[in-house]
Amino acid sequence: MQNKIKEIEEQIALAVKEVKSSRNLQEIKMRFLGKTGVISSLMKNLRDVAPEERPSMGKLLNALRQWSEEKFDAIEERLKDAELKKKIAEEKIDVTMPGKVRENGSYHPNTLIRNELVSVFAGMGFEIFEGPEIENDYYNFTALNTPADHPARDMQDTFYISDKFLLRTQTSAGQIRVMENKKPPIKILSPGKVYRSDDDATHSPMFSQMEGLVVDRGITLCDLKGMLDEFARKIFGESVKTRLRPSYFPFTEPSVEVDVSCFECGGKGCRLCKGTGWIEVLGAGMVNRHVLEGCNVDPDIYSGFAFGMGIERIAMLKYGINNMKLLFEGDTRFLKQFRG
Ligand code: DAH
Repeated sequence: MQNKIKEIEEQIALAVKEVKSSRNLQEIKMRFLGKTGVISSLMKNLRDVAPEERPSMGKLLNALRQWSEEKFDAIEERLKDAELKKKIAEEKIDVTMPGKVRENGSYHPNTLIRNELVSVFAGMGFEIFEGPEIENDYYNFTALNTPADHPARDMQDTFYISDKFLLRTQTSAGQIRVMENKKPPIKILSPGKVYRSDDDATHSPMFSQMEGLVVDRGITLCDLKGMLDEFARKIFGESVKTRLRPSYFPFTEPSVEVDVSCFECGGKGCRLCKGTGWIEVLGAGMVNRHVLEGCNVDPDIYSGFAFGMGIERIAMLKYGINNMKLLFEGDTRFLKQFRG
């Protein structure tokens, strides 16, 4: 027994010498002093020692236990101290380090233009209506005076989902939804995404449009022209003028294409207006009476005008962006330039 005690003492001294962390020390401590540890089991073995030797062995064992407890405590204190120092050193803050810059986000140019358009038209009393992007063939075409065999369907390369459903090719579909649900006077603005199978520097399979519709008694082409002048001045600059050119859309009669005088050169002719002094910005016209009839709006009492523009196109013109892809790639080097 005495030898065993000696041996354990040496084992503890050795183990303690190699201890690496306070956690490791805890493990060693449990191994010797724990309930089922080496010293405890030796205590139990005391029963088998000859009775006359028992008191002195007991004494030795107690001394061993006390000695090892003190040793462990002392080492623990030393380790904890070292660990704390290390932690403090590691967590030291270098106040001379440059700060982490958290960059602010910015509105996408499309959103900027959309908000600007909405605020210009809201100022004229327009309300917002947002229709669904997955549209019924009827709303996107048929009700807009473009029945199944109409050649104007070929003006737009359509993504069909089924015979009946498609991704809307124009926000004009919203005109019908509004007229079916609301009696004149109607004055709505309908922004949203549209889809066409088209892809080059000025076309994207998904883009955004802004539609406008006004229906009331006595609405004329003059009202359209007056409103467009106001819109052009607010968006492109006070000195900008508009002109209407005859065009064709199935849902308007007459139909016009609207140009604004070039805000870059003032109409003299430059690269932006391709030397013409004018830039095409939108399509418009007086709502075709077939469209009104289809929505149960009496064309002998009411008339209206409609217009539709591409938001990306307006953004590209206004900010001098030459490739539409830049508006869809989300490159922060591009987007940063629009930080207000
Ligand atoms: N929907 C037409 C297009 O996408 C644009 C348009 C033209 C809308 C004339 C109108 C309009 O409301 O009156 O090409």
